[in-house]
Amino acid sequence: MTVVAIDGPAGSGKSTLARSLAHALGFLYLDTGAMYRALALAAHRAGIAPEDAERLVQLAQQVDIRFEADGETQRVLLNGEDVSEAIRTPEISDLASRIAVHAGVRRAMVALQRALAAHAHGVVAEGRDTTTVVFPDAAVKLYLDASPHERACRRQHQLRQQGIEAPYEQVLQAILERDARDAARADSPLRIAEDAIVIQNDGWSKEQTFEYALRLCRERLGVP
Ligand code: DC
Repeated sequence: MTVVAIDGPAGSGKSTLARSLAHALGFLYLDTGAMYRALALAAHRAGIAPEDAERLVQLAQQVDIRFEADGETQRVLLNGEDVSEAIRTPEISDLASRIAVHAGVRRAMVALQRALAAHAHGVVAEGRDTTTVVFPDAAVKLYLDASPHERACRRQHQLRQQGIEAPYEQVLQAILERDARDAARADSPLRIAEDAIVIQNDGWSKEQTFEYALRLCRERLGVP
């Protein structure tokens, strides 16, 4: 199994890039953030507090989280229900980051991520620890980054497309808080793997980031 792993902070364009790369390379797209989000939604519905590690771990071991191809994108299924939109609200973003601090929750999620990948001949895995913990032997490791201002503008635009109007300051604050929490947690904090290629994409279009990353992947993987 060939793995391309992509890490980076919120709003760096990881998901967009990972989806396009997976499509171009004919690989499975493994959106690990969506898995933490789906678990956060399940916890929210079950009334489990984000601090309750024990119940969260139990839940992580019970829930069925799967992806289903849908043209060029994919749907996220939680116990068979399509939750693709429900997991993209600011509330669930915040909750996902809170539940992701627990070591037991991460262990369960990493096991699930490796099991999903094991069935594919190639995987583009995206999320904060995919290059460092989930797939430390990935053939290609990319670390996407952009300034907080750029990332907040992108996130605001993304939310607007979902019909959610949020003031810039609020979006920026949420991004900075999430960055801080993801980087400061004791278990698998967001960090740049030693052998990762850093792509600082301020001012780049999605297409520019994609073309650049695809060229890198093709070179590293030795595919035309
Ligand atoms: O990439 P995202 O915004 O969809 O991720 C949501 C949250 O899930 C993020 O704030 C931290 C957590 N997460 C994680 O801890 N490890 C991952 N591999 C992916 C996401």
